[in-house]
Amino acid sequence: MPANIHQPQNITPGSDKESQVDSLLSQMTLQEKIGQMSQLNSDSKKLHTTLKNGLVGSIINEVDLDTINEFQLIATQETRLGIPLLIGRDVIHGFNTIFPIPLGQAASWSSDMVEVCAKISAIESSNSGVNWTFSPMIDISRDPRWGRVAESLGEDPFLCSTLGKAMVKGFQGDKLSDTYSIAACAKHFAGYGASESGRDYNTTNIPENELRNVYLPPFKVIADAGVSTFMASFSDLNGVPVTGNRWLLNDILRTEWQYSGLVVSDWESIPQLVTHGFADNEESAAFEACNAGVDMEMASDNYAEHLVTLIQKNKISIKQIDTMVSRILQLKFDLGLFETPFTESTASIEHLNGFHLSIAKQAATKSCVLLKNNEQILPLSKTTISQLAVIGPLADDGYEQLGTWVFDAKISQSITCLSAIKDYVEGSVDVKFSVGIETSRSNSQDGFIEAVDIASAADVAVMVLGEEAILSGEAHCRSNINLPGCQEQLINAIYETGTPIVLVIMAGRPITLEKILPKVDAVLFAWHPGTMGGQAITDILFGEECPSGKLPITFPRTIGQIPLYYGQKNTGRPASEATFVGINDIKVRAPQTSLGMTSTHLDTHYSPLFPFGYGLSYTQFEYKNIRVSKYSVAMGKSFKITATISNTGNVDADEIVQLYIRDLVGSVTRPVKELKGFKCIFLPAGESETVVFNIHTDELAFYNRQMEFKTEPGLFNVWIGGDSDTQLKTEFEVVCKESDSQVQPENESEYTE
Ligand code: BGC
Repeated sequence: MPANIHQPQNITPGSDKESQVDSLLSQMTLQEKIGQMSQLNSDSKKLHTTLKNGLVGSIINEVDLDTINEFQLIATQETRLGIPLLIGRDVIHGFNTIFPIPLGQAASWSSDMVEVCAKISAIESSNSGVNWTFSPMIDISRDPRWGRVAESLGEDPFLCSTLGKAMVKGFQGDKLSDTYSIAACAKHFAGYGASESGRDYNTTNIPENELRNVYLPPFKVIADAGVSTFMASFSDLNGVPVTGNRWLLNDILRTEWQYSGLVVSDWESIPQLVTHGFADNEESAAFEACNAGVDMEMASDNYAEHLVTLIQKNKISIKQIDTMVSRILQLKFDLGLFETPFTESTASIEHLNGFHLSIAKQAATKSCVLLKNNEQILPLSKTTISQLAVIGPLADDGYEQLGTWVFDAKISQSITCLSAIKDYVEGSVDVKFSVGIETSRSNSQDGFIEAVDIASAADVAVMVLGEEAILSGEAHCRSNINLPGCQEQLINAIYETGTPIVLVIMAGRPITLEKILPKVDAVLFAWHPGTMGGQAITDILFGEECPSGKLPITFPRTIGQIPLYYGQKNTGRPASEATFVGINDIKVRAPQTSLGMTSTHLDTHYSPLFPFGYGLSYTQFEYKNIRVSKYSVAMGKSFKITATISNTGNVDADEIVQLYIRDLVGSVTRPVKELKGFKCIFLPAGESETVVFNIHTDELAFYNRQMEFKTEPGLFNVWIGGDSDTQLKTEFEVVCKESDSQVQPENESEYTE
């Protein structure tokens, strides 16, 4: 604490927190309470006056340590009650050290990695005075046109819940009051990822059953894991914008889930209730949001302007306000802000230090997904190559490789592919670079000649293409998700040289690659990999590391297939190889035969280009001997599912072993596959391991037609494999009680309870 600064006067550090909140609340005027419910942007013109009057609860977007300490000084020393401030910032995938975008981190399928990235983000940001991040974004995202898919953890509720929980743990640590812990925020509650046509801020229509089974689970898991705050989504959910949706924010979040943390609006989402056509003016917008359960207003001032009137009109009660303000004060107590409102600049730790950078590199390595490796062109060897061409607008751009939401990045620290490759091969390989096209969006082919020249003279061309950072993230959606600009033409031009192409893609979303796939020998999908991206990619290209990432989201063949995700329903007429009829065979079909009358498009295959969970390695894994410990599992019991995985290649490698189930008949239809577990294993070349999953019948529950969360008895398929397209399958049944079991099939394993 800076010299001459004293504790805020009205609290006694260490005394019981609830009574501290009550005692503080009892001293507050109505204006002061409403002030706590306001979050102002740090450049707001009225910030200083409002702050001095004790009418601000939180400030967003300030990261200058001295300024933050000054704000805290005013709040704690110059206001009547001395209440410290929540200092919010979007620390989404790093602060100064930038890790892969969340979708990239999700490709690591590693809770440990995700947790440590969040921990380092918390250390660097808290050390700059930030105490609240608006992360993780756990919106289930099944539409890659949506720019915010980059910030998401992908399409699957189980993966998203698991990794989201790890992120919260990383940000919040063991105790919020620990020096380097910051409050996390589960956002955007809920359904935002289903924005129609993948256009940001757009309407969402999600039937309640789908909402409960797909979109809400990550929020419930993270609420139960103790996330401090929730953010109400901008979006319109089934006709009621979430910011004014009492059913979602009160009935589900507060009553059903018993969540007691703070709910913040999204940026100006309260006045936007008027724009939505849900409230007729800002006063009624303030009423709808407050009545729905939004405790704090971000950036706008509808609460500050209208809550007093709403109370005078008896539309909002003081009791409601007290409950909401208590949540805000409670968080400030939990963060230890009353005791330690200031960040000691003398205690500054070094940001972007060696450890942080080494984690950034590991995270980037683990998030790269190898999609193609023809004739094992990868890994490259510096002893067999003498000339290497590095081509593309993303090969040497320290900013673009960072991706979206990187306000606080130190761009000069980025290691690009070009610089890392040059360092790695120095003295043994001659590296030539040509940008080929100016930016990823550029349509000018002027640079092709130089690129073709260097490719023609090279043994291998490494092309680093994709999307620059601005093409994904909030309000950056695309109606086409191919390689933008004239990148496909650039690939064609290099292909004509006959030099093998290793394509590295940096992007904030899945890209449609079907057309260019035959032209390239290898594809390494690196997402936006962050500060250390270039080194991580180089290590993989040259075999220092073996790729192990797996797709957290389906890659469609064409844009028209969207939404395409592995956990789809079977339909009454599922497509299959046996019935698939392409556009050329259309005459075979109608009207004489029902062949081809299935749920598919005529002009593309029904399958994705790459399925969820997919990713190659430099070795091969063989999966066999799937077994269940019990064929008939009594409701309320656990059982084991096992399979043997062998590394049949000659490289030691990590593998992400995935378990999927299908509930064959349900009171509501169930997905054709659902991820229920995964394990990251390390297998030396030539070795095998039997991987065991423990499943309790409660983990098979879903919301039924009455919106009850129950496991239903019946037959299940279960698969273990390296992606969601795995065919290694067995089955089991869930029975109401043990005596109901009828069958004792052959493949029950030796693993008995
Ligand atoms: C975004 C949120 C973000 C907030 C604050 C909004 O536009 O939707 O995700 O946390 O801004 O920057």
